[in-house]
Amino acid sequence: MTGTQKKTALKAPKGVPDYVPPTSAGFVAVREAITSAARRAGYGHIELPIFEDTALFARGVGESTDVVSKEMYTFSDRGGRSVTLRPEGTAGVMRAVIENGLDRGQLPVKLCYAGPFFRYERPQAGRYRQLQQVGIEAIGIDDPALDAEVIAVADEAFRSLGLTGFRLELTSLGDQTCRPGYRDRLQAFLAGLDLDEATRERARINPLRVLDDKRPEVRAQLADAPLMVDHLSDQSAAHFAEVRSHLDALGVAYEVNPRMVRGLDYYTKTTFEFVHDGLGAQSGIGGGGRYDGLMQQLGGQDLSGIGFGIGVDRTMLALQAEGIDPAAGGRVDVYGVALGAPARAAMVPVLAGFRRAGLRADMAYGDRGIKGAFKAADRSGAAVTLVLGENELASGTVVVKTMATGEQNAVPLDSVVAHVTGLVAR
Ligand code: HAM
Repeated sequence: MTGTQKKTALKAPKGVPDYVPPTSAGFVAVREAITSAARRAGYGHIELPIFEDTALFARGVGESTDVVSKEMYTFSDRGGRSVTLRPEGTAGVMRAVIENGLDRGQLPVKLCYAGPFFRYERPQAGRYRQLQQVGIEAIGIDDPALDAEVIAVADEAFRSLGLTGFRLELTSLGDQTCRPGYRDRLQAFLAGLDLDEATRERARINPLRVLDDKRPEVRAQLADAPLMVDHLSDQSAAHFAEVRSHLDALGVAYEVNPRMVRGLDYYTKTTFEFVHDGLGAQSGIGGGGRYDGLMQQLGGQDLSGIGFGIGVDRTMLALQAEGIDPAAGGRVDVYGVALGAPARAAMVPVLAGFRRAGLRADMAYGDRGIKGAFKAADRSGAAVTLVLGENELASGTVVVKTMATGEQNAVPLDSVVAHVTGLVAR
């Protein structure tokens, strides 16, 4: 084969986004904003496997969910074990908490994770097969104040990015004492409706899912459907009322949506979704809730839990819809333009000095000419450009140009880091 044959360029798998510069800076900023909101509330980092035993998700997320029955990337490894790329994070966190005995230490266990998740969904705007989430979980204490904390961390994360066009929808899915009775009541109601075969089947397996049907002819029939929030046990009703009063005290606005349906089976009591109105069909930018039976279901103690998963990809789209650049401020703080090989050689240790001082610094490498170098300085978004030519080199100085004003000053090379640090900090 000759080296000149052109090969077809390979593409990323369908529904799998890349994040490359300059957009990737926004991706990192979004992930950092969410994880730092979690850190401020005392959530510690947990790093989880990307794949787990398939049984974990079947047992933890629920076999009747679309996520488990239709969307999992499941395969046999070379040892013949069935493994699955994680479709969500909560089941893996519970497995790790049990396996590492964290549930026997100080409660609640508060954990935060970030990374890719995999769902074989039909790709469309805002719906990917590799999606990115930041999630938090608070395990082991059943206190409505903790529900409010989890919700407030998400709210705070979105607000810290400057987002305003989102709503928080909230409901309660009840507990083991009131859920079965409500399910029977809803199934009896659905049995009296004029529904197609597929919807009847859904009503049999997961009647709550029918409440979310988008077709007008079905919706019209559901107007008088019984709602879980009207049939809560005393304990669940009191819990829900307390969560709401904590949110009121925190100034976190919400609307109760008693028809909310989540795609995962483990939810109990408080359940919520953050919805952004600028995103079209895939409007959920984050969601979560309580999952009080999950740990026991996975073979651990009977401990409660609550958490959220925020979609990093969708948060990026929401920011774009609001015209916000989460990485505003450029790629670097300082950009070096050196004219000629001796000046370039002198610029290299100057940049290293800036980096040691905590500033982001880059320079025009190679012999690309003054025009190209200044263009690169502009594109970098640097607040300050350093210009080093033969004359400056001879006198031991460097020209410091403040990009916003165009102001230029010659500064001694050996004090330029201190000088510019003062400028950038202002
Ligand atoms: P989830 O609602 O399935 O919950 O996913 C959380 C968020 O991930 C969604 O609100 C959405 O922003 C994003 N997301 C989900 N699927 C996709 C997709 N195909 N493409 C792009 N973004 C997507 C969970 O995963 C739960 N584990 C959350 C949780 C934690 N509940 C309790 N603790």
